[in-house]
Amino acid sequence: MSEAAPLQPPPTPVAVPVLAVDGLNAYYGRAHVLEDVGFEMGRESVAIVGRNGMGKTTLCNAIMGIRPPELSGSIRFEGQELVGRPSYRIAGAGIGGEQQMLAIGRALLTNPKLLVMDEPSEGLAPTIIEHLIESFRALEHEGVSILLIEQNLGVATALADRQLIMISGQIATETTAEALVNDPDAQRRYLGVEPLAERH
Ligand SMILES: Nc1ncnc2c1ncn2[C@@H]1O[C@H](COP(=O)(O)OP(=O)(O)OP(=O)(O)O)[C@@H](O)[C@H]1O
Ligand SMILES: [Mg+2]
Repeated sequence: MSEAAPLQPPPTPVAVPVLAVDGLNAYYGRAHVLEDVGFEMGRESVAIVGRNGMGKTTLCNAIMGIRPPELSGSIRFEGQELVGRPSYRIAGAGIGGEQQMLAIGRALLTNPKLLVMDEPSEGLAPTIIEHLIESFRALEHEGVSILLIEQNLGVATALADRQLIMISGQIATETTAEALVNDPDAQRRYLGVEPLAERH
């Protein structure tokens, strides 16, 4: 009489990242505005923060297929290469990149899996920003991943635990919302903003 063999745990599935950016370089003429940018994200929200002119919008546009004249490297969405695809096909694959808040609702009609947003809180009143954060949280709850590009550190840190800091076309470092909120020096140095703790 042999005892039943213990159940083997199922093999761990190899997770394909929602978004995987690798060796991405972009130029405007001779200006090298994205330098070997790489990061991965799963089913989560990630913020990209940084001072003006660091390359955040260029990165966002590259993901959405709105490309500068010269772009090289790889951007994979659920394993599918996006570089070289036209913008409408990228949106069709399940990404709704939006800059304007009013357009976010329209983007959501396409049921995106990944929402890429460039400064969605720009120019909005604080009460509207609160609603925006609540809406993003509800989307997260439904399984939508969000890549948020923000100068508003309050919004970035309210939504995303992972904070990627862009300096001069590179992801210089990654930190967490908690660490960034508690580090006024980093806020000044990386973001050029008045520290959150000193704001009202
Ligand atoms: N169409 C363009 N032609 C030439 N240079 C450009 C163009 N668009 C952006 N740049 C330059 O590329 C660099 C990165 O710009 P980008 O707009 O990506 O920065 P950003 O981080 O989004 O800045 P901001 O915080 O002001 O939105 C900047 O030096 C900018 O001057
Ligand atoms: Mg920008």
